[in-house]
Amino acid sequence: MNIRKLGVNEKAPMDLLLLADPSRTIVEGYLKRGECFVAESGGKLVGCYVLLPTRPETVELVNIAVAEAHQGKGIGKQLVMDAIQRARAQGYKTMEIGTGNSSIGQLALYQKCGFRIIGVDLDFFTRHYPEPIIENGIHCRDMIRLSLDLGH
Ligand code: COA
Repeated sequence: MNIRKLGVNEKAPMDLLLLADPSRTIVEGYLKRGECFVAESGGKLVGCYVLLPTRPETVELVNIAVAEAHQGKGIGKQLVMDAIQRARAQGYKTMEIGTGNSSIGQLALYQKCGFRIIGVDLDFFTRHYPEPIIENGIHCRDMIRLSLDLGH
C-alpha cells in the first residue's frame, strides 16, 4: 500500500470522506484549509485522511476513512500511524482527533495508537449536524476529544 498527498489538480475522494463525516459542507470546509492524503493498493483507492493545522504546533486528524470492503484489515491503523509520522516530521508537537461518543471502534483504534481522551465537546453533533446520527445503537451527541503528544 502506498500513501501519498493528493495532487492539487486531483479531486478529493468525497465518497470516502463522507463515510467518516456525513456533512458535505463541513468536509468541503476543511478540505480547503487542510491536506488530504490517499492510500492506494493495486492501483485502487483504499483509504484517505485529512490533516488540518488548528493552533500553533497543533494539527488535527479531521477525517480518516477506509473503503468498506477493506475495513478491519489494519489499514486504518496504518493511516493513523502515517499521519503521526508526517505531522512529527513537519514539526508539529500535538495531534488531536475528535470522534463521536457512539464511535466505539474508532475510540478503540485511536487509543491503541496512543491517543488520550482530553475532553468532551458536549452536544457538538446535535448542534452542527441536522440529521440525528445513531451508531452501535447509541445516539451520537457529543464529540470525544483525544490528543497525542508528538514528543519534540
Ligand atoms: N473494540 C476493540 N477494538 C476495536 C473495536 C472494538 N469495538 N473496533 C475496532 N477495534 C480495533 C481493531 O481491533 C484494530 O486494533 P488491532 O490492530 O489492535 O487489532 C483497530 O481498532 C483498527 O483496526 P483497522 O483494521 O486498522 O481499522 P480499519 O481499517 O477498519 O479503519 C476506520 C478504521 C474507522 C478508519 C474505518 O472503519 C472506517 O473508515 N470507518 C468509517 C469512517 C469513520 O468512521 N471514520 C472515523 C470518523 S471519527
